[in-house]
Formats: sequence, structure tokens, C-alpha cells
Amino acid sequence: MRKLSVLLLGLSLFVSASAADDDKKPLSRIAFGSCAHQDREQPIWEPIVREKPELFLFLGDVIYADTEDMKVMKAKYDKLAKVPGWKKLRETCPVMAMWDDHDMGADDAGAEYPKKKESQQLFLDFFGAAKDDPRRKQEGLYDARIFGPEGKRVQIILMDTRYHRSKLAVDPKIPKGQGKYKASDDPKATFLGEAQWKWLEEQLKKPAEVRLVCSGIQVVAEDHAFEKWMNFPRERAKLYKLIRDTKASGVVFLSGDRHLAELSMMDGGAGYPFFDLTSSGINQGNKRWRPLETNRHRVATMNVGDNYGVVRIDWDKKDPIVGLEIHDDEGDVTIRRKVPLSRLRYSDRKSKADVTGLAAEALEHVDKEWTVEMTVNATGTTRNKAMTFLNSEKDFRSAKNLTIVLDVKALAKELERAKIEDAGKHYAGKKIKVSGTVTLFEDRPQIRVTKLSQIEVVE
Ligand SMILES: [Fe+2]
Repeated sequence: MRKLSVLLLGLSLFVSASAADDDKKPLSRIAFGSCAHQDREQPIWEPIVREKPELFLFLGDVIYADTEDMKVMKAKYDKLAKVPGWKKLRETCPVMAMWDDHDMGADDAGAEYPKKKESQQLFLDFFGAAKDDPRRKQEGLYDARIFGPEGKRVQIILMDTRYHRSKLAVDPKIPKGQGKYKASDDPKATFLGEAQWKWLEEQLKKPAEVRLVCSGIQVVAEDHAFEKWMNFPRERAKLYKLIRDTKASGVVFLSGDRHLAELSMMDGGAGYPFFDLTSSGINQGNKRWRPLETNRHRVATMNVGDNYGVVRIDWDKKDPIVGLEIHDDEGDVTIRRKVPLSRLRYSDRKSKADVTGLAAEALEHVDKEWTVEMTVNATGTTRNKAMTFLNSEKDFRSAKNLTIVLDVKALAKELERAKIEDAGKHYAGKKIKVSGTVTLFEDRPQIRVTKLSQIEVVE
């Protein structure tokens, strides 16, 4: 009997969209992690349990299945089920879970993985989802739920970036061990698929103060050549645009997959910073010292050692604090940023009347291809000379200013061929015609030039 009640307790602790019981209690401690190899010890569950999380988000690679044989996969889940620390967590804390590549069934897997329907059911079985759980019939594991009363609502959104994911574009020139993938501009390439995009829009329209938008792969980091949302830049632009269009406040991305932990941040044009807190792994964190990979959006990093993440919300403060934390395998904090909730509020600053001239025109074309003619009235460069800026206004801070960003690194060979030594000097004072996608940097429009064919001198 005791066994049975423990079992029932275990099952009832699995949270799914269909089981809404005590959702009204505000969440203040949410732990998360990813990448747990079933053949290795998993001592990190001890400090996670000590944290007394009110919810645990398992963000993928919960096992390393790497098989198309469902019996083998089931046996690997059985192994995880017996891990003492994991068992303890399941007995004390509800869990919401999303898979990544290895637990769907293959390294870097996407829509092409042939057994995804079967492995989806196994995943749901392992996490104790009911027979009538809507995810049983859905294509993909995407799921969402809102906890807490009005004014203190935390929405958990789990995006499935595997089930529908198009084939990634491989770049054979990338050195071994440094990733494989380049950005693909294919307009048909997708991470979520049509139905999930629609579903996500509906979720983002629901009222909530904090939204933890979870993705197996990183959303914000874009400079490495592993898996990330920027494998399909159009898809990430679509995600950011959806957040802007739904005017969703409080979005914080949580991610995994990378065998490291880091906090990244960028401007996605919603009037507040998009943070992406990455934690990986439960026991698959990189164990040896390694040089930091480039991440232009990095705020903080822990690139060696096993780790887990905690989102700690202090609702008692007048302006509640959203704490973004990474902990090591002893439970010690290695990254902590405290973000006042008021700083995560959507605002439409970019369309304010003080933006005029070319900048205002450009704002009409955010995330779209646009061709513009302008006179270069000022130039600038980053300290490391990796970027040169061509500004339409003398003062780049002017609300009228449009910036053309020359990616000097990407252009190096072409500039050499064109015998342009200093791009800033070359274009200064000239009238230029530029084509490219308009993006936002801290609410300001810019066009990034990575090929010389995007820019020509017209006068
Ligand atoms: Fe992964």
C-alpha cells in the first residue's frame, strides 16, 4: 500500500496542461536543467532537491537515447527512473518536461527522425502523462501552463524545437569540435511548424507577469556553430516579432543543450531586454577547461562543470525581483542577475513620434528586406574594428539616424579585392544605396552588410 501511495504521489506530481489543481499559489522558486546521461551518476539532484523548488523544468536530453529501437529507449528511461536523486526530486516537486535531440532519439535530430511519434509516447509515459493528456495526440510535446494569482502569474511555455524542425544547413569548413551549422535563409525552414506557431501566439496573448519561454536550444546566443535558433534567422526574427506583436511582457528564455551554462541578453525590439539563461548539464557539463567561445550577447558564463538553473522571484518587493541564477554541482551560485520585473515590460518606444526621418522609415521594415539611399554623414567603428558603422546623421544618437553596419570580418576578402582599406573612410560623405534586412539594436534600426553586393555608391 505504501508503495502504491508513493507511486500515486509520483504520478500526481507530474504537471500537465490537463491537470490544473493548485495553480493559484505564486511560484517563487523554479529550478531547471538539461542533459542527463543515464549511464553516469547524477549527484547534482541532491543540491537541486535542497533548493526546494516549487517546479522543476527538465529541458531536454533527459536521457541519451540515441536509438530508433523503442525497447532500448525504454530501458534507458528505466535507468533514469532508478537514479536516487531524481527519484527524490520527483517525490518532492512537480516537473514539466520538454525533450531535445538525444531523447527524441538522435544527435541533432529534427523532423526527419523516423520514430518521433513512438518516442513522444515513451517520453510522456516516463513523465507520467495521463492517457487523455492532449499531448498524446499532438504532433510534438509543446505545452504551457500558468501558475499563480493575478499580479503574480508565472507562465511556463515549453517550445518543441525538434518535432517539426527542418534540416539544418551544414558548413563543411567549420573545424572539428567547433560545431557544424551555418545560418540558412530558406524561407520554408522552421523550428516550430505552423500549428505550434499558432499555439505559441495564443499562449503569448494570455495575461501573465513572468513568462519563462523554454527552448531546448539557445535562443539568444548566435555566434557559435552548434544548434541554436539562429540556424534559421528568419525563425528567430519571427519569434521576436511575435513577442512584439502580442505585446507580451515578462519573457525570459530558458535553454539547455550546450554542455555549459551562460546568461545572454539582447534587444529583441520589445522595449525590454531578452535574457536567455542556459543551463546544461545535469551530468553532461563540459569537464575540462576550454577557451570561451564567442557570444556577443553574453552577460555571464560558467563554461566548465555540471550545473542547474534557478529562477527565483521575490513577489514581496514593490517591484518584484526576477533572479536568474546558475548553480554548480555543490549548489553554489556561479551566475546571478537580479532583474526588476518593471524592466521586463513591453513598450512600443520605437514607434514614438520623436523617431523621424530615415529611422522612422526603417522602422516600418523591421525584419524585412529593404533598400534605402542615404548620405553617410558620420562613421564609426567598434574597438576591435570588427564592425564599421555608416550613419545617416552626424550624431548617431539622433532619433533620425539609420545605421548601416558593415561586418568587416565577413567582408574582409571582398574589401581586399575592391582595394578598400578603410571602409569608413571609403564611404564617408558619399551617397550610398543599401539593401538588406532591417533589424533593431536597442530600439534603433540598422541594416547589416555582410556582402559588398548589398552596398553601392550612387554618387
Ligand atoms: Fe541537445
